[in-house]
Amino acid sequence: MAQLWGGRFKDKTDQEVYDFNASISFDKRLINVDLAGSRAHVKMLAKQGIIEKSDLDAILSGLDSIESDLKAGKIEITSEYEDVHSFVEAVLTERIGEPGKKLHTGRSRNDQVALDMRLYTRERVKGTDRLLEALLSSILDTMKANLDTYMPGFTHLQKAQPITLAHHYGAYFEMFRRDRGRLHDLFVRMNECPLGAGALAGTTYPLDREFTASELSFDRPTRNSIDSVSDRDYVLEYLFTLSTVMMHLSRFCEEIIIWNTNEYRFVEIDDAFSTGSSIMPQKKNPDIAELVRGKTGRVYGSLMSLLTTMKGLPLAYNKDMQEDKEVAFDAMDNADKCIHLFTGMISTMKFNSGNMAKSAMNGFTNATDAADYLVGKGVAFRDAHRIIGELVLACIDKNKSIEEMSLEELKNICPKFDKDIYEAVSLETCVEKRLTKGAPGKAVMKEYLAECEDYLKNNKAL
Ligand code: ARG
Repeated sequence: MAQLWGGRFKDKTDQEVYDFNASISFDKRLINVDLAGSRAHVKMLAKQGIIEKSDLDAILSGLDSIESDLKAGKIEITSEYEDVHSFVEAVLTERIGEPGKKLHTGRSRNDQVALDMRLYTRERVKGTDRLLEALLSSILDTMKANLDTYMPGFTHLQKAQPITLAHHYGAYFEMFRRDRGRLHDLFVRMNECPLGAGALAGTTYPLDREFTASELSFDRPTRNSIDSVSDRDYVLEYLFTLSTVMMHLSRFCEEIIIWNTNEYRFVEIDDAFSTGSSIMPQKKNPDIAELVRGKTGRVYGSLMSLLTTMKGLPLAYNKDMQEDKEVAFDAMDNADKCIHLFTGMISTMKFNSGNMAKSAMNGFTNATDAADYLVGKGVAFRDAHRIIGELVLACIDKNKSIEEMSLEELKNICPKFDKDIYEAVSLETCVEKRLTKGAPGKAVMKEYLAECEDYLKNNKAL
C-alpha cells in the first residue's frame, strides 16, 4: 500500500477498500504521458523559481531513469501503488530523496489525471486518424480498379438499380471521410492544457500555464480551473466518433457477409482473413467481418457507460471519473483493431465481377430506365411507371427479363416501344447514363475519384 496521503488518518485503509479504490491496474498505461506531464511541470517550477535548478536536474534524471528501467524491464508497475501518479512519485523519491518530494508542488492529481487523459487520448485520436487514412486509401484503390464493375444497388435489400462497385465503395469513402472530419474537429477542441488547474481552484504559486501548455504541444491552457478537472467531453466525443466508425464498419461488414454467401458469391475473402468450422469441412466463414460487427456493441457500450458516469456529477472532480479509463481504453483498443483488420480484409478480398454483373442484370433493375425510355417517347412519367409495371408482370409470367421480350411483345403492352429500347435498358446504358453529380456513370465517377485523391493528399493524418 504505497499512497500519497495518510497524514490525517489514524488507521490503515482496509485492504479491500484499497483495492477497490486503486486504479493502477488500468492507469499504468498512462505512464509515458504522466512522465511527460511531470517533466513539463518541474521545468516550469524551476523557471518560475518555485524549485531550485538542482532539484530540477535531480528530478529530471530520476524520471529518465524510471523511464529507461521500465523500458528495460528492470522495474514493473505493480499493484503496490494506488495509481500511476503515486508510482512515479514514490519511485522517484526512493531514488533521488528530498527533491522527489517537490515534484507535486502546485499540482493535484486532479489536474494531473486530467492532463494524462488528454495527452493519452490525443495520441489515440491521432492513431485512429492514421488507421482511417489507410482504410480510405484502400477504398480508393478498389474504386479506381472497379469503375466498370457492375453490380445491383439495393433498397430494402431488394435489387433496385444497377450501379458499379466503385460507386458503392464511394458511399463508404464518404462515411469514413466524415469520421476523420469528426476526429480533426474534436482534436482542435481538446487541444488545451488543464495542467495548473490544481485540485479545482488553481494555486497560489506563480505557475506559468502558457509555458507548460506549449511544452506539451497544446494550443493554449484551459480557461477555467473547475472545468479543467471536471471535463471529459473530449473522451466522450472520441467515443462517439469511434461508435460512428464502428457503425459504418458494421454496415460494411454486414454487406461483405451477404456478398460472401453461396447465394451471392460476389466476393471471396482471403484465406488469411477467414476461419473454418470444427465439424463442417466445407466451411470458410467470414468471422472477422462478424467480429467487427459484433464489437460495435461494446464500443457503443463504452460511450453509454461514460455518458452515464458523467451524468449528474457535481463540480468539480469526483472519483466516479476514474471510471472513464477502462471503458475508454477498451473502446480505443477494440475500434483501432477493427479498423486495422478490416482494412486488411478488404484489401485482400477478391471480387467476382461476372456474378455481380449477372446479378445486376436480373431482378428488373432496369425497370426505371425502361420507364424513362417511354418518357423520352412522350409518355408522362406516372403513365410510364404503370406501363412498365404491367410489363414487369408480363415478364414474370413469361419468365423473361425486359430485354428478353420481343419487340412485338413489348409493342403489345405499349406501341411507343421501338427497337432502340434494347440499348436503352442495357446494363451499360443504365449505369453510364447516370451522370448527375454523385451518380455511378463513369464520367462523373472519374471526377469524383480525382477529388478523393486530392482529399487524401490535402488531409494528412493528425
Ligand atoms: N486515479 C484517479 C483517477 O483516475 C486519479 C485522480 C485522483 N484524485 C483524487 N482526488 N482522488 O481519476
